Amino acid sequence: MRYVFGNWKENKNLEEAQNFVAELAHLLAGRNRVEKKLVLLPPSIFLAPLGEQIKELLLPVELGVQDVSSFEEGAYTGEISARMVVDLAGYALLGHSERRRFFGENYQTVNEKIKLCQKYQITPLVCLSSTNDLGALELSQRGSPAMIVYEDSQKIGGEETANLGEIIQFCRAVRSRFSGKVKFIYGGSVGPQNARTLWQNEEIDGLLVGHHSLKAGGLMEIFLS
Ligand code: PGA
Repeated sequence: MRYVFGNWKENKNLEEAQNFVAELAHLLAGRNRVEKKLVLLPPSIFLAPLGEQIKELLLPVELGVQDVSSFEEGAYTGEISARMVVDLAGYALLGHSERRRFFGENYQTVNEKIKLCQKYQITPLVCLSSTNDLGALELSQRGSPAMIVYEDSQKIGGEETANLGEIIQFCRAVRSRFSGKVKFIYGGSVGPQNARTLWQNEEIDGLLVGHHSLKAGGLMEIFLS
């Protein structure tokens, strides 16, 4: 199975989010034989209404959360825990470079988050920008299986991905550090203009799409490439 994750980041209000799903339903109509999984990562406040809408429309689309707290529960104002989203999200994006850059997150915190996601059977989608950080990650073989995202932080928000050779090298480093079973995802300037080239490489199990996931048409093009 291959995956497309649409990371909306801090974008859209509820109406825009619901319009996006309605448009997606239109674009997906009659296409239930696609061999890929489409996962949307909206702002967490929209997980419940979008989950309802997806269910009503019988869409083959899943939801994930953009982050979870490193604390299981308690007096941590503003935080959202893995336990709170367990019925709303099957995946959690963890350690995104924007979390590390703007919110001072480090791999010690990310490891706490991984543990909690695995405890609650949420698949952690762990971002790394350098193979040097592979040694800092703690993935348990128990609990939900993890996915690793190579996210080239120099390539975010543009139109050109990291070079394919570099992506494959990263993928092989991930597979030799963890088992071959870990899914390998690439993120960083993925768009309709380069998705086909990335999909042609069998070692890439999925794509994490940022700004090109904000329009249903663009996301579908990547999904169907
Ligand atoms: P982008 O974001 O697709 O806008 O480059 C990707 C990411 O944040 O990983």
